[in-house]
Amino acid sequence: MERFTAEKTGHLIASYRARFASISLDQFAHLWVDDEIESLHAEILTHISNCEDLAHALRSRFFIQRTQRFFDAHPDGVFVNLAAGLSHYPLFLSKPVICIEVERPDVIDLKRKAFARWTDSGDIPSRAIEFITCDLDDSSAVSELANDLHRRLDNRPTYLLMEGLLFYLQRAAIDTIFDQIARRLPMGSRVGSVSFETWTTSTRPYQRLIEFFDRALHPEDAVYSVIDDDFYAALPGLRLIEKTNCAQMIGEEASLGLQREDIDEMLIESLYVLERI
Ligand SMILES: C[S@@+](CC[C@H](N)C(=O)[O-])C[C@H]1O[C@@H](n2cnc3c(N)ncnc32)[C@H](O)[C@@H]1O
Repeated sequence: MERFTAEKTGHLIASYRARFASISLDQFAHLWVDDEIESLHAEILTHISNCEDLAHALRSRFFIQRTQRFFDAHPDGVFVNLAAGLSHYPLFLSKPVICIEVERPDVIDLKRKAFARWTDSGDIPSRAIEFITCDLDDSSAVSELANDLHRRLDNRPTYLLMEGLLFYLQRAAIDTIFDQIARRLPMGSRVGSVSFETWTTSTRPYQRLIEFFDRALHPEDAVYSVIDDDFYAALPGLRLIEKTNCAQMIGEEASLGLQREDIDEMLIESLYVLERI
C-alpha cells in the first residue's frame, strides 16, 4: 500500500487499458506497465472492484471514438486534455491536430521523456504535443491557464477532455474550470467530462475506494468531489448532449458474459459530453 501515490493513478489507468487493449483501443498502454504496476492493479481489483480495469477500458474507447469523430469533422481543431496523465489520445487522431496537455510537472517530465524514447524506437507514431504545467486545484492558476488557452485556441473548434480529474479537485477549482475555460470555448466545441454522482457514494465499491485512498495516500485535506447531472444541465453556454456510465456500457457488452452481481460490484463513474452553444 505504501507504494501507492497520487502520481501512480496515471500508471494504473494505463495498466487497466493494457489489460483490455481490444476494448480500450489503446494499443500503446502496455508501454507503461511493469511488475510494480501489475501488482497495484491486482490490489485495486481485490480491494475496490473486480471490474475496475474493464470500466476504464470502456471509458477510453468512449473518448477515443468521440475525439476521432470530432477531429475528422474539424481537422483545424485543437485538443486540450486537462490532467492528461499517461493517456495517448493524440496518437489515435488520423489528422495532425494541435494537442495541448495540462498536467503536473513530474507527469509531464515523465511523459515527454518516454514519448521521445518510444518515438525514436518506433513504438509510437510521432505527434507534436504542447505540454502546460498547472495546478488544476488552484483557482488562480486555472484562471491564468484559461487566459493562456483562450489565446492559443484562437477561435478554433476545441475538444476539452477532463477524464479522471474532477474527483480530485475542490469545488472552487471545478467551477473555475467550467466558468473560465469551458464556457469561453469557441461555439461548436465539445467538453468530455467524467465524474461520480452523489448516489454512487452510498455504493460499496465507492466506499471501498475512499477507504483505500484514505489508507494509501494519507491525504490531509482530500475532498473527493462528486457532481450531479443537474450541475452539467445548468451550465451556462454549454448543452449536455450525451451521458452514460460504465455499468451501462458494460451492460451493452453481452460478449463479456458478465453477471448482474459483477455489475452491482462496479465503481460507477458517469461520462458526459457537452457542446458549446
Ligand atoms: C486518474 S489520473 C487520469 C489521467 C488521464 N486523464 C487518464 O484518464 O488516463 C489523474 C491525473 O490527474 C492529475 N492531477 C490530479 N490532480 C491534479 C492537479 N491538481 N493539477 C494537475 N493535474 C492533476 C494526476 O497527475 C493524474 O495524472
